[in-house]
Amino acid sequence: MDRTKEILSFLRNNIGYVSGDDIAHKIGISRTAVWKHINNLERMGYDITAIQGKGYRLTGIPDKLYPWEIEQSLNTRFIGKKIIYRDTIESTNTLAFSLALKGEQEGTCVIAEKQVGGRGRLGRRWVSPKGKNLYMSIILRPEVAPQYVYPVTFVSSLAAWDTIKIVTGKESTLKWPNDVLMRGRKICGTLLELSTEADMVKFVIIGIGFNINMKENELDDEIRQRATSLSIEMKKEYERASVCGVLLTNLEKYYGVFKEKGGQDICRMWEERSGIKGKHMEIIQNDVRYEGIGEGIDTDGALLLNMEGSIIRIISGDVSL
Ligand code: BTN
Repeated sequence: MDRTKEILSFLRNNIGYVSGDDIAHKIGISRTAVWKHINNLERMGYDITAIQGKGYRLTGIPDKLYPWEIEQSLNTRFIGKKIIYRDTIESTNTLAFSLALKGEQEGTCVIAEKQVGGRGRLGRRWVSPKGKNLYMSIILRPEVAPQYVYPVTFVSSLAAWDTIKIVTGKESTLKWPNDVLMRGRKICGTLLELSTEADMVKFVIIGIGFNINMKENELDDEIRQRATSLSIEMKKEYERASVCGVLLTNLEKYYGVFKEKGGQDICRMWEERSGIKGKHMEIIQNDVRYEGIGEGIDTDGALLLNMEGSIIRIISGDVSL
């Protein structure tokens, strides 16, 4: 694979045709070996035009979440430096969790083209059609007690908000606890899972589902009312690998704030960005309905709701704005 990748970057860095001889010489392999690697790239979905007497030219890049494609727009120190890529998987969170149990380092990401058992919050399923969206899970090892870890979920939503702004120029909406919406419909969600030992967090898995190129007709009737994608909103297709690199870069930025300044700063940033203060909202928690005005976010990430003068803390549930 390393040689194939070397040839790919050689082709990427040359706008015109490159002869098989040049590639063979540069990489230090035979011309037959070059030809085999070119075939390999074509099987992976790369378009390579070959003209006798001129050589090879890269003419198309597949819409795949290959780690080396994500790398092109990745600007991080540790998040996404190791990416485990799968075509089809049960759930990226499940694999990331088992790898973290075996000691996998902080920053490693599991990314898949399709999930057959994608999981959402509150035991829901996460629709994960092949090659359309982003399904990824990142292993983090924050050195905090379990009660201080919750704001990591806001790290993910803030990173998604910035990413949407960068790639579309549009401002999305943040909904407690972990939803990112466009036109009132969900575009990105985060599932946080953690393992603890005594009173310390061993690791956190941030599972992010970000709808990119999914179309309205690919959604069930029931979900169509509530979900959207970048492509539905902007009426164009996006390069998923590049959106992914930007998202991971933003994630490291906000995780840095969490580590250096603590969860409180992240809660304040999320609170400001969401405009939650003063918003009328309704929350369903274990079949009980709460209605009131958003008062803000507590230091541990709980939602503070003002119900006719008394402030109540909501720690889980579904919010309607
Ligand atoms: C939510 O309910 O809003 C959370 C959705 C999280 C979905 C992502 S997709 C990648 C990762 N793997 C999963 O099984 N779930 C998360």
